[in-house]
Amino acid sequence: MFFSIPMIKMVGTKSTMLMDTSMLRNKLHLSLFQEHQYFCFSNSNSLGMSKIGLKKKVKPIAPTMAILSEAEPMALAISEKPSSNTIQLMAVVTVRSVNNNNKALPNNILSIFNIPPKSNNKGAVTLQLVSTELDPRSMDAKLSNGTVLKWPEDHKVESGPYGNLNSYIVTFLVDSDFGVPGAVTVINGYDSEFYLESIDIENNVHFSCKSWVQPNTLDPQKRTFFINKAYLPYETPIALKTLREKELRQLRGDGKGQRIFSDRIYDYDVYNDLGDPDKGVEYARPTLGGQLNPHPTRCRTGRRPTKTDKNAESRTSKSESIYVPRDEEWEDIKHETVKQGKLKALLRNIAPKFLDNRTGTEGVLEINHFIKDLDSKSFLNVGGAVEDIFKFDPPKLYSRGKRNFLQDDEFGRQVLAGLNPLSIERLTVFPPVSKLDPSIYGSLESALKEEHIIDHIDGMSVQQALEENKLFVLDYHDVYLPLLDQINALDERKAYATTTIFFLTKMGTLKPIAIELALPTSKKVVTPNVDTNSKWLWQLGKAHVCANDSAVQTLIHHWLRIHACMEPLIIAAHRHLSVMHPIFKLLHPHMRYTIRANAVTRETLINAKGTTESNYTPGRYSMQLTVSAYRDWWRFDMESLPADLIRRGIAVPDASQPHGVRLLIEDYPYAADGLLIWSSIEKLVKTYVNYYYKGVDEISSDYELQSWYKEFINLGHPYHKNASWWPKLETPEDLISIIATVIWIVTAKHAMLNFGQYPYGAYVPFRPPLMRRLIPEKYDIDYSEFVMDPESYFISSLPSLFQASKFMALFSIGSAHSPDEEYVGDRKDMSSWLGEPEIIEAFNKFSMEMKNIEMEIKIRNIDPKLRNRCGVGISPYEILIPSSGPGVTGRGIPNSVTA
Ligand SMILES: [Fe+2]
Repeated sequence: MFFSIPMIKMVGTKSTMLMDTSMLRNKLHLSLFQEHQYFCFSNSNSLGMSKIGLKKKVKPIAPTMAILSEAEPMALAISEKPSSNTIQLMAVVTVRSVNNNNKALPNNILSIFNIPPKSNNKGAVTLQLVSTELDPRSMDAKLSNGTVLKWPEDHKVESGPYGNLNSYIVTFLVDSDFGVPGAVTVINGYDSEFYLESIDIENNVHFSCKSWVQPNTLDPQKRTFFINKAYLPYETPIALKTLREKELRQLRGDGKGQRIFSDRIYDYDVYNDLGDPDKGVEYARPTLGGQLNPHPTRCRTGRRPTKTDKNAESRTSKSESIYVPRDEEWEDIKHETVKQGKLKALLRNIAPKFLDNRTGTEGVLEINHFIKDLDSKSFLNVGGAVEDIFKFDPPKLYSRGKRNFLQDDEFGRQVLAGLNPLSIERLTVFPPVSKLDPSIYGSLESALKEEHIIDHIDGMSVQQALEENKLFVLDYHDVYLPLLDQINALDERKAYATTTIFFLTKMGTLKPIAIELALPTSKKVVTPNVDTNSKWLWQLGKAHVCANDSAVQTLIHHWLRIHACMEPLIIAAHRHLSVMHPIFKLLHPHMRYTIRANAVTRETLINAKGTTESNYTPGRYSMQLTVSAYRDWWRFDMESLPADLIRRGIAVPDASQPHGVRLLIEDYPYAADGLLIWSSIEKLVKTYVNYYYKGVDEISSDYELQSWYKEFINLGHPYHKNASWWPKLETPEDLISIIATVIWIVTAKHAMLNFGQYPYGAYVPFRPPLMRRLIPEKYDIDYSEFVMDPESYFISSLPSLFQASKFMALFSIGSAHSPDEEYVGDRKDMSSWLGEPEIIEAFNKFSMEMKNIEMEIKIRNIDPKLRNRCGVGISPYEILIPSSGPGVTGRGIPNSVTA
């Protein structure tokens, strides 16, 4: 057991071993030697033996052994009891100085660092070492003295990615039998928070802190930072166990009161803050979460209820941000990037807004004038910086679409390699069958008949086409039909429940061959054009499908399946997995920035009258799409890439294939590239999990892990908590599958959905996010207008110029990589595994695999056989290339859900 460290004395030699930690299951091997006049820690890990000198008996001072009272942390005493067994440990404490632009935060603490400590150590930063060993007399952890961090002007300064790193030397006094330092406690007696980057003891024992330390007046509990090394709960050095549990209790909080910016409490709540009923009934929105409107939970903020609805939480004022635990906050550089993006968006929307009234309902094509380097006659074609400010970069699909509306080949290609490649399914019965309840929705019999498709399936019978896996469907019938009466009652928002049939051609491309457009009381089918009239009916049908697809992409695949479903997993991880837990360490970079990104989404995107409601056809009913998909369709066990492909019938299990599945559409760029990445993630996780968990007992007895997973299900997804489909967590294989799925979701899957928005979805005439008119029937007063000028009718059904401009602006902000993005395969800090060469090797291998995948994707993009990603006018499929620079690049897979 780890805590039974033997004391070995080698009397008579120059070098005396006082303590050896080599029983630490091939982890960090630290030995404390007495050599000549020095005590030394030696690290005999794979990096080679290093020794660090500790001056012996420099001062006759003994450390205090009492554990600090939490209630009176400032009562820390620096005992100066003479002792002959005292040694000094020198530590480098690194603090980050930042230029904090967030006005809600206190001033940079460095500005007050020169103020000398007041009496009783108030106005000081005090640190204390905690040993991994217990004092046999008190059975409490052995402690060093409390040492005060001085701020000498001649300290070392290095520039870091988020500000200067200021290193200060402090000295701890410990007894010679102190053992290995396992934790450092920190009390901030100043009035401002500061960012503690790291603490290094004698350049050998490392504490990677990376956290804001709040003033003692705001957070009376001292902060604890643990040694940078992974321990399963049962392996925790005995002297650290209490601290490990206490730290998690602090992070869980008591579920009461309003959270303030300095808190670091992770807790759950329902989505009851999207509306603002005090502003009027038109701003009221239902609570999401619970039986009526099922939804995953969010981070609790505890703001006061609204006056109008006691169950609704009040909105934040414009000057404040929604609470997120302090270390979930974005770095300044990310805030600045978003701010710049918003400013650009504002400027680029000025002229379209002004022109909207002049251009009328047909103005959407004027958007071409606001896209760079296109039209020399453009009144804004002035080039240079002005153009850069007022014009959009061309979206990836723009050059192909600028002269035409969406063509069939591109429409088919986009469901495999466009903005949303997650909805296409193989058709197993024709016509498709609705799962809705006919007693509520009336006859649900499809209007699609054999006659609609028989001429487009290469001479096959429908049955033959089904059996040969040639028919595919984009089925938005059931998710839209229940909402259509409400949506179509909105001003200038019109939708159908669409069902689109595709045929897989011999070239491996998908050809759209029929679209059913259903309303609650009628249905019709449009097919590819045979004359001018049918050409525009078909074009309108495709536009309605695109609008439905855009909303589904955003509200179900992007928001629900990624952002909303992963937030409670992150909350549960912080509440139940210690920072020392190996699974926490593995997941940590995959949780970065997500809770803040979701808070921003609640502030401005999915809130009442937010941009989601204004951009998509369902308007104020948009979130109902999310709710129904979550209630009727979402399953965590279907979220890995292979499971998702099999569920949609696009792949079948095949053990002979490298990834265990065979694609039924071979040239399916998202799936083909995704499987490479999925496979690498799975391999890495397998190596990692198998290193720490040797069998089922270790999984079942890991109470932190079990608590994490249980709470993710029970409090994160309460509506589904009793579902039988939740994967079990009983074996290492179960854990591998769960963790690989999570990493896949937050990396490649999110990157594809998020950073492809602008390149693949921003050009509105090509892919409208909303529709304003239904297709006229012969008895409608609009019908003559349509017959006289079907193109104008079509254009007037699309969003207006200003709507198009706002949509482009939003996507340009959301699709941009921040300069501080951290990409998959680029793990910044591997110091936790310096004693674990197998883990380091696995991470390095994963990194190399990401580079190889990048090359493979580039090769695929120039393979003329792959017609969905290579060919004249075809955009190469780059969205799953792992690396990227900053900005809207249409590629790059961040480690986490950062936007
Ligand atoms: Fe996102």
